[in-house]
Amino acid sequence: MTLTRRRFLTASGAGLCALAVPTLARARAMPVLQAGPSSAQIAPLPYPVTPVWAFGPEGVRGTIPGPEIRVRAGDRVRRRLSNGLSQPTAVHWHGIRIDNAMDGAAGLTQDAVEPGDVFDYDFVAPDAGTYWYHSHNRSWEQVARGLAGPLIVEEAEPWAGLEGAATREVTCVLDDWRLVADGAIHEESFGALHDAAHGGRLGNTVTLNGASETALPVRAGERLRLRLINAATARVMPLRIDGHAATVIARDGFATAPQAMDEVVLAPAQRADIVIDCTGAPGSRASILLDAGRGEWVPIASLAYSGEAPLPTVEAPVRPLPDPAWRDPDLGSAQREELLMEGGAMGGLSGAMLDGTRLDARALAEKGKVWAFNGIAGGMHTRLFRIARDRTMHLTLRNDTAWPHGIHLHGHHFQVLSRDGVAEPGRVLHDTVLAGPREVVEIAFVADNPGKWMIHCHMLDHQASGMMGWFEVA
Ligand code: C2O
Ligand code: CU
Repeated sequence: MTLTRRRFLTASGAGLCALAVPTLARARAMPVLQAGPSSAQIAPLPYPVTPVWAFGPEGVRGTIPGPEIRVRAGDRVRRRLSNGLSQPTAVHWHGIRIDNAMDGAAGLTQDAVEPGDVFDYDFVAPDAGTYWYHSHNRSWEQVARGLAGPLIVEEAEPWAGLEGAATREVTCVLDDWRLVADGAIHEESFGALHDAAHGGRLGNTVTLNGASETALPVRAGERLRLRLINAATARVMPLRIDGHAATVIARDGFATAPQAMDEVVLAPAQRADIVIDCTGAPGSRASILLDAGRGEWVPIASLAYSGEAPLPTVEAPVRPLPDPAWRDPDLGSAQREELLMEGGAMGGLSGAMLDGTRLDARALAEKGKVWAFNGIAGGMHTRLFRIARDRTMHLTLRNDTAWPHGIHLHGHHFQVLSRDGVAEPGRVLHDTVLAGPREVVEIAFVADNPGKWMIHCHMLDHQASGMMGWFEVA
């Protein structure tokens, strides 16, 4: 009966096809994500606006950060990238365990989209959490000019509203800009090898949601979930909120056992979801503080308490987020690989392979390469490793340099097993992990997402100057 009825529907559906197409096409039209020039008030007034490159909806000038994309776990994300820039571009959906063809890794999973062209991204966002999207072509320049935005995947069953959960949430995109006195982006330093060989192209202006000195309106008594995203291309951000204890509930999107912390450190591309109780007095302010590297906490933004009477405080302990769908790695049968990081200032790199040829350090530098992964500089030419689908990868990240690196794997999350041989307490899951100078970090994951996946440093100047490669799951 069912079969017959279904067949009937299919048959009549086919008959209607020609008529139905225009309507269907309209109904399913992809929302546009347009990349193009725009401007934003990045520096505090009275500095002028900054010309930027930004994402926005069709026909509308883009914003810093780009429009928030918000779906529920298991939903599809559909966006037509429309390139209004003067350069080719592509969009990477950072941290999403995505279909390989939609990963946006220009040169590996797709060709970069030429100016004036479009590319349709259509994928499932399987895991709840805080993610972001950003340009993945000339990203050291395009992300630094502003091409990034938040991608929020809500829990399939709402967490907010349950006992101990946050009463409200706020997305906080943190960024770091190198500006000159007239408010413009310092362009001469794009591609500068000196920055690339050190900590990357650090900025002089840190923003929260695209502005300096942002004041987030809060009300006394609220329990807030802050979705922190470090969209900077180089700056590692140690953060804390004056007078407010934070409880970390997720890292890089994935839920973790709630952990009280005074300070949260975010490498470029890392995220943390933190819960804070708004214990300040009505009308007061609390600074959001950043350690800019001199061991000194500087205010970058603030919580601005309204004068309203406090809401009843939430007494229950912070409620954990639902467990992520996570397959524990099988270390016994794991394929073991190593990622050796070499080079940079004070690194003594003797040489490396570039596009199949061995070059000494001087010849490499002439070609803009100062770092290497496993003896290969900027290795899109050679696959780093291959692993059978569903097998566990045990990967040792060996940072043999004088600099920290935020190593990002596409298409997978991974568990951090140990640092310098000391087991990481609890289950810590990431898609980007910070490896300190000379540190050895062991990670593992089940390679269950087939395709060619990039692995690179998310200090994007490091990526461009050698710390980039790919692996294959097949
Ligand atoms: Cu967030 Cu390969 O990038
Ligand atoms: Cu790096």
